[in-house]
Amino acid sequence: MAGSEIAITWLGHAATKIETDGNVIVIDPFLEQNPATPEDQKQPSQLDLMLITHGHYDHMGDAVSLVTRHQPDVIANFEICAYLQGKGAQKCNGMNTGGTVDWNGVKVTMTQAVHSSGISEGDSIIYGGIAGGFVLRFPNGFCLYHSGDTDVFSSMQLIGSRFHPDVALLPIGGHYTMDPNAAADAVRLLGVKNVIPIHYGTWPPLAGRPDALREAAKDVSGLNVIALEPGQTVTQSQIG
Ligand code: NI
Ligand code: MN
Repeated sequence: MAGSEIAITWLGHAATKIETDGNVIVIDPFLEQNPATPEDQKQPSQLDLMLITHGHYDHMGDAVSLVTRHQPDVIANFEICAYLQGKGAQKCNGMNTGGTVDWNGVKVTMTQAVHSSGISEGDSIIYGGIAGGFVLRFPNGFCLYHSGDTDVFSSMQLIGSRFHPDVALLPIGGHYTMDPNAAADAVRLLGVKNVIPIHYGTWPPLAGRPDALREAAKDVSGLNVIALEPGQTVTQSQIG
């Protein structure tokens, strides 16, 4: 099989680092002001590709500074890319729901999310397109789904049947996204056996916890709820 093993590091909240074939991919860069991000992860030393699910501050708070520092490839919706190009991004790939971009052999598909996407700038909110998620299909066959912020939606079943993700990163905090009970429904719809809970614990309203997801989804045979600590890494072979 082509391609090296994939390593997934949760950087706290929705921020996720993926290392593969010497490349560093970050999904939803919110690091410097992220109370959950470990100090040694707040400023990535390498960044090749940045993926942004939607325009909220807790998902792209570091996007502009990372563009300035690393000038990475950027994949996000059309409106977020237009915004970042206005801030100096030179390698933006603005796309939209249903589209797929091939990035060095990694097929990145933008999926639906049930959420909003406004970009805060000062006291105003700029239209940031429609919130999404991403399916990443790696050259070695591994498939990862990062849902972004979302409620559960029934066409998660289609994401499952079309892509068969090996692992899904799903919000469980509630308040702004689905909670553990809804995430259990997401797990059933996706048919996924490995779940990394995200978007919880960062602030008090995000009250959902991995144990509550385990309890709510205990009928799903073989389900592996991988509760990482911020900064902790899980590799493809550990996921199985
Ligand atoms: Ni959001
Ligand atoms: Mn959020």
